[in-house]
Amino acid sequence: MKTRITELFGIEHPIIQGGMHYVGFAELAAAVSNAGGLGIITGLTQKTPGDLANEIARCKDMTDKPIGVNLTFLPVIQAPDYPGYVRAIIEGGIKVVETAGRNPAQVMPFLKDAGIKVIHKCTSVRHSLKAQSIGCDAVSVDGFECGGHPGEDDIPNMILLPRAADELEIPFVASGGMADARSLVASLAMGADGMNMGTRFIATKEAPVHEKVKQAILAATELDTRLVMRPLRNTERVLNNEAVERLLAKEAELGKDLKIEDILDEVAGVYPKVMVDGDMDAGAWSCGMVAGLINDIPTCEELITSIMSEADTLIRKRLEGMLAA
Ligand SMILES: Cc1cc2nc3c(=O)[nH]c(=O)nc-3n(C[C@H](O)[C@H](O)[C@H](O)COP(=O)(O)O)c2cc1C
Repeated sequence: MKTRITELFGIEHPIIQGGMHYVGFAELAAAVSNAGGLGIITGLTQKTPGDLANEIARCKDMTDKPIGVNLTFLPVIQAPDYPGYVRAIIEGGIKVVETAGRNPAQVMPFLKDAGIKVIHKCTSVRHSLKAQSIGCDAVSVDGFECGGHPGEDDIPNMILLPRAADELEIPFVASGGMADARSLVASLAMGADGMNMGTRFIATKEAPVHEKVKQAILAATELDTRLVMRPLRNTERVLNNEAVERLLAKEAELGKDLKIEDILDEVAGVYPKVMVDGDMDAGAWSCGMVAGLINDIPTCEELITSIMSEADTLIRKRLEGMLAA
């Protein structure tokens, strides 16, 4: 399939694996890229720019296809060494960067000078337009369904994607709630040039996370995620567990007085405990509503190949067939 996204990034299929903390290691990114999608290493999971440089090199040993690096700009007290991470990306020969969180304007000149394509993840049309205006090459439009940070507008993709299509000139991919060929074909119909998946890629053979994480996603239904940290305007969609229930009880009790310090036990340092140790109740970890559509653990190659072949059938048989009738 050829779309503006496959052309922009030089990939075979319009499917991107979104950056995921403690999931987006070299193994997963290489597997997605080898299957014809765009695999993405999560920059900040690497503790230092030097570690990121090693991870990029490790990934390049596993694939010669294009790979990307995610750079997330979080509301943190002590900012990571962003200039160092950007240097590691440029010196590592990376040609695609997925930015997320705050506006990436501070790093744009460096990335653009190095010939890097930038896709910024946005949860609203206004942020997408802003990304376009500062020179981003594409955006990933992340609907309310998404795992991770859906923003504060709560607009699901059935509305957000056609709204983005109406306003944007640069290409965009649909993100949030994407799992299969139906997601891809629907996204294309709504004006996107591809799709980005997070949660779906965790339940793959190559995702280097504890088996219990994959089983938790398989066991979850679309009813099992919760929104946390809304009072802090840092809303995150996570899989429900004991820690999340405790966190929500604190939010209900403290209301507007809630501070990040009140919930550190439930949100700080959680990812290595969950993803590496398989301690499933260690705290709140991102997961999309799309868990309700995930029932198997394929390889990335099986997943992407089946999505593309089923998309072909959907378009040529189901949709064409309706017109013919
Ligand atoms: C476990 C997990 C960790 C994530 N970590 C990050 C991150 O560090 N940076 C980022 O930009 N997005 C992160 N995301 C969001 C994904 O890149 C993607 O936008 C989102 O998962 C799409 O929604 P879906 O899960 O419904 O596919 C994370 C998502 C999950 C599920």
